[in-house]
Amino acid sequence: MSALPGSAEGTAVTGLDSSPVEPAALDLPPLTEQTRLEAREIIARYPVARSALLPMLHLVQSVQGYVSPEGVTFCAEELGLTKAEVGAVATFYTMYKRRPTGRHLVSVCTNTLCSVLGGQRIMDALSDDLGVHHDETTADGSITLEHAECLAACDYAPVVTVDYEFYDQQDVESARELVAALRRGEKPLPTRGAPLTDFKGISRQLAGFSQHPDAGAARAAVDHPGEYGPTLVGLRLAEERGESAPAMPRSASSSSSARAAEAAGVESAKRGEPEPSGRDTGRRGTGTDTPAGQEPGTGGQGPATPPPSAPAPGKA
Ligand code: FES
Repeated sequence: MSALPGSAEGTAVTGLDSSPVEPAALDLPPLTEQTRLEAREIIARYPVARSALLPMLHLVQSVQGYVSPEGVTFCAEELGLTKAEVGAVATFYTMYKRRPTGRHLVSVCTNTLCSVLGGQRIMDALSDDLGVHHDETTADGSITLEHAECLAACDYAPVVTVDYEFYDQQDVESARELVAALRRGEKPLPTRGAPLTDFKGISRQLAGFSQHPDAGAARAAVDHPGEYGPTLVGLRLAEERGESAPAMPRSASSSSSARAAEAAGVESAKRGEPEPSGRDTGRRGTGTDTPAGQEPGTGGQGPATPPPSAPAPGKA
């Protein structure tokens, strides 16, 4: 159990994270009037103010490098929440940091597939080189190292991200070189996606603001070329075999009823009522409409007939 950021130590606790909370950091950049104006710009994007909390926490990190006690108070004041409510969110998601973060956040996937292919060896090697463990920052403030659960890029395993940009199919040596370059102040190009900036920059992007100096630079980052081979293997094979997925049916009446339910939810949230249940998704079935054994690409390997239904109770 540990105190929430923004709470007096020991007066509010959570069981989500037993690690110690960094006391108020020294020499933090202040949350300025400009930050407050940007926070209000974020709030204006949502029909219900509290929905703005997640991007606002990223905004705080873009200024101070983590969710500081000051940042928790700032969000609570702007959104009309208690500090405990803000702290409960900030301590639940791993992308919100509870201690000052280095210039770059290096995340090493140690989940199953990456680990089997060397992810844990990469993590151990970087930990040795940097002299830090999970969720710790080097003394020079250049790198925060963390191990991560699946980074949703298993087809590129083992994966390392820096400030959430991908460096695919790494090994111990390539990851060491990558981190050494970062410590020299270089910004090696990610394998795919936008060019690397830094942790505060990507936090600003996650808050919904551009981290780039002008529209041209932002466009260039979005259009930056990348190596997408492994992800596109399935598409290439489907094209070679002349296969395609069945169209997704979507009736006009179901989408309009979904919109009505969504509007009703917004109105009840404004009044502080629970969201109405029973939203019509328009489709009651589960899975696809393709009969078993006829899915594209199975080549007849699936069952010829649907599996038998479960026996009635007492007839096993
Ligand atoms: S297991 Fe590492 S990206 Fe999925």
